[in-house]
Amino acid sequence: MLDRNDASYAERVRSLAPTTEPERQYYFVDVCRSLLLEREQQLGRKMTMHIETFGCQMNAKDSETLAGILNAIGYVWTDSEDADLVIYNTCTVRENANTRVYGRIGYLGNRKKLFPERRIVLCGCMMQEEKAVEKIRKSYRFVDIIFGTHNIYKLAELLFEREATGKFVIDVWNKAKEIVESLPRVNKYGFKAGINIMYGCNNFCSYCIVPYVRGRERSRSASEIVAEAKHMAGSGVKEVMLLGQNVNSYGKNNGEGISFAKLLRMVSEVEGIERIRFMTPHPKDLSDELIEEIAVNPKVCRHVHLPLQSGSSAILKAMNRRYTKEQYLALVERIQKRIPDVSVTTDIIVGFPGETEEDFADTVDVVTKAQFMSAYTFLYSKRNGTPAAEMDNQVNEEVASERFQRLLAVVGEVSHQQVKRLEGQTQTVLCEEYNEETGLMTGRLENNLLVHFPCGKDLLGSLVPVVLSECKGFYFLGTKAD
Ligand code: 5AD
Ligand code: SF4
Repeated sequence: MLDRNDASYAERVRSLAPTTEPERQYYFVDVCRSLLLEREQQLGRKMTMHIETFGCQMNAKDSETLAGILNAIGYVWTDSEDADLVIYNTCTVRENANTRVYGRIGYLGNRKKLFPERRIVLCGCMMQEEKAVEKIRKSYRFVDIIFGTHNIYKLAELLFEREATGKFVIDVWNKAKEIVESLPRVNKYGFKAGINIMYGCNNFCSYCIVPYVRGRERSRSASEIVAEAKHMAGSGVKEVMLLGQNVNSYGKNNGEGISFAKLLRMVSEVEGIERIRFMTPHPKDLSDELIEEIAVNPKVCRHVHLPLQSGSSAILKAMNRRYTKEQYLALVERIQKRIPDVSVTTDIIVGFPGETEEDFADTVDVVTKAQFMSAYTFLYSKRNGTPAAEMDNQVNEEVASERFQRLLAVVGEVSHQQVKRLEGQTQTVLCEEYNEETGLMTGRLENNLLVHFPCGKDLLGSLVPVVLSECKGFYFLGTKAD
């Protein structure tokens, strides 16, 4: 792309770069675009990109920014990993997320032997771990660029550096510096989108690596969030999901004093936004103000994802969750009383160090009492650097797996009962996917469950009332209500 011997060219490009963001990145987007055009002329075709996203909604959101930057440079999307530029936006919340990534980079490396001009970029949570980066440096030398979670906005600049120097570029920060707004972004769906309201986490649950790789809590300004929602509504978005590791802490650290409940209200006042979801509140500080806002605000989905993690007060203490079994159950009851048609869903970890059969029985007890609509269940995964990894009473793998299977059965039964209760109801769904062959639309209920029903393709992206005629386990078959 660039004459690598021409150091003066690279120096000149750098010296002319603005020093403020996002102007600096728009400048590098332009530089990369001209390099890309040259390359396209040589090849006689478009340059392609592929982004593979691992992990949670935050990563999905970051990937939209990465795609937006590449789009602005001129890359065209391909679903295949045989692309000119492949980005893996990685996750490290559990060990198996890392294992999967290593396996797949190996494959990319083999392909790169055949096509050396390809670029392989790794970013995201796993890259914030020194050990992972060391391993990649040593054993996966074909990787071109590594960066972390705090500087995804710098993609264009890093791509330039890779071409200018011809060398492996690594730029991982251990701390966030600034929140860079107004970057280009690609919205995957058109009618629904995520909005980051805060980054990082201060909770330090003892098993969790997130605070180490995503840094301390930083809330975006409410006006920026509302502006983003307005912009999205203007381009046809109807449903937004407000994203943060602990949304209850929103506004506690940006000096604005706007609570999360107030922010919900502000976003709901944006014309065109018809549905609002949020992820994830922490049970220790979910306020009555928030419960009230969900109850009275018709745009806010009656769905609360409330991670339990364990039903045992002793284990919760060791996890540093800062609530007891009784407090959790009382909170669920408060929510269910004030919002009678609410769906509560959860996350549960099985096999945390020191978990006894009695502790596990408490978890099962909470599942039965709280009547979760669904639960994501995870086997405890030891993450180096977290306090739980140092605990000397790690649970035997077989014991944990056996408990995990038992929990799955209970969760399956409870959630099936909850789902079945909705049969016959009429609910509003967002039409998300249309199957040309069957003529069935797939819509999502407020509580995230899916319903398939016959209708025309033109309803894609609209909110329509649907009768949930038949419960099929964890989804419904329905008919459009008049
Ligand atoms: N092991 C297993 N599950 C974990 N989670 C977070 N860290 C770990 C870990 N070390 C789960 C929690 C969290 C969800 C996103 O991932 O349940 O709510
Ligand atoms: Fe991890 Fe706990 Fe923060 Fe959630 S609240 S990201 S589980 S430390």
